[in-house]
Amino acid sequence: MLSLNINGHETEIRSDPATPLLWVLRCELKLTGTKFGCGVGVCGACTVHIDGAAQTCCTKPVAQLHGAKITTIEGLDSAEGHALKAAWTRLDVVQCGYCQSAQLMAASALLKRNHKPGPADIDQAMTPVVCRCGTYPRIRQAIYEASGQTRK
Ligand code: FES
Ligand code: FES
Repeated sequence: MLSLNINGHETEIRSDPATPLLWVLRCELKLTGTKFGCGVGVCGACTVHIDGAAQTCCTKPVAQLHGAKITTIEGLDSAEGHALKAAWTRLDVVQCGYCQSAQLMAASALLKRNHKPGPADIDQAMTPVVCRCGTYPRIRQAIYEASGQTRK
């Protein structure tokens, strides 16, 4: 049986090894914070951390993830994650909320590798995650606040 490291726990997986990680998270493990959008790797709604990098998981079979460290929004417990969640709340970033787990996962991976990101860094890191509600300006401002920057 396949075992995956998810949110710091070795977890036995019963699903077929060809099953994409998204569906193992949502259907087998009931970690429903990671969302389904397009299912073909283009909208970013299913973004998680795989070995610390923000990656989509709707097209990644779990068989390819043996030995990887996977973090979902439910396990986002880093200093960057907490700073971002606080800024998200302060600035009331969320509209419908559907994309926001993925936005936080992308933003926290960015701040982990770049403590003071500029506009181009934010664009590069956040563009892969689509927000149909257009919360981009508040997301950008929350990333600045969480990284101790005041620029708008
Ligand atoms: S649901 Fe995975 S990228 Fe759209
Ligand atoms: S908040 Fe609605 S899709 Fe982003």
